[in-house]
Amino acid sequence: MKLSEAQIKEFDESGYLFFPNAFSAEEVKILKQAATDVYGQQREEVWRETSGVARTAFAAHTYNDAFRRLGAHPRLIDPVMQLLDGPVYMHQYKVNAKAAFDGDVWQWHQDYGTWARDDLMPEPRAMNIAVFLDDVTAANGPLLFLPGSHKQGVVEAGHDLATTSYPLWTLGRDTVSELYQQGGCVAPTGAAGSMLMFSSLLVHASPANISPMDRTIVYLSLCHVDNHIRQFKRAEWIAHRDFTPITPLADDTLAELIS
Ligand code: SIN
Ligand code: MN
Repeated sequence: MKLSEAQIKEFDESGYLFFPNAFSAEEVKILKQAATDVYGQQREEVWRETSGVARTAFAAHTYNDAFRRLGAHPRLIDPVMQLLDGPVYMHQYKVNAKAAFDGDVWQWHQDYGTWARDDLMPEPRAMNIAVFLDDVTAANGPLLFLPGSHKQGVVEAGHDLATTSYPLWTLGRDTVSELYQQGGCVAPTGAAGSMLMFSSLLVHASPANISPMDRTIVYLSLCHVDNHIRQFKRAEWIAHRDFTPITPLADDTLAELIS
C-alpha cells in the first residue's frame, strides 16, 4: 500500500491517518484469538491492571506466531517506511486489552516524550501504527487525539508512577487545554480491522472502559534504524534493542493461518 500525496498532506497537518477495514474479518479473528492466548499466559511481558485483568501484552511478536506475522505485515510496515523515508525496526510492540468494565485510563501523553526521556531516542523519527481487534466505539474507551499537537515538539510532562499500573510521562491539564484550543479533540472510531497511524509526537489519551465490550488494539511502534535508542534503562521487552531492519512479509501472511 502506497500513501497518496493527499494522505501525506493530511498526516502532516493532523498527525494521524485512519484506514477503515484494512484487515478482513478472518484476519482479525486470528489476531483476536492470539490476544486471548497471550493474555492467558503468566509472563512478565503481560502487564496487568491493578484489578488483575490484562492491560497490555508487550513484545507479543516474539512469542506468538500471528503477532510475529503482523509485526512484519506490509500493510503496516510499508506506509511507515514511506513516511519515515527508510528502513524501520520495532521499538515497541503491545497488544492493549482495555478490557470490558476494567480497562483503565491512559493519561494524556506523547509517546516520543517517553522514548526521548527514558530511552534516549535521538529524534521523533518513529511512529505508531495500530490495528483494531474489536470494534472501537464512543462507548469502549477509544483513543483521544489532539490533532495538530505533533507540531509542538516535545512538550513539558511529569513522570506519573501512581495513576495506573504503568509509568508514563504525562501532560498537565493547562498544556492539554492549550493544545485543545488550537486543534480540538477527536476520537477515531471504527470497525475491527481498521488501522490507525499516528505521529510519535501526537498528544493522545484514552478513558477507562466501563462498557461491557472489550477494546483490543495492537500497536507497532516503529523507528527509523538510524534513530535507534541510545539508553537501555527499560526492560528489553518494553524498549527493544534489536535494531534489525524489518523486511515486510507477503500480504497474505495472516491469511495463511486461516483454516
Ligand atoms: C498508548 O497510548 O500507548 C495506548 C493507549 C490506548 O491503547 O488506549
Ligand atoms: Mn501512547
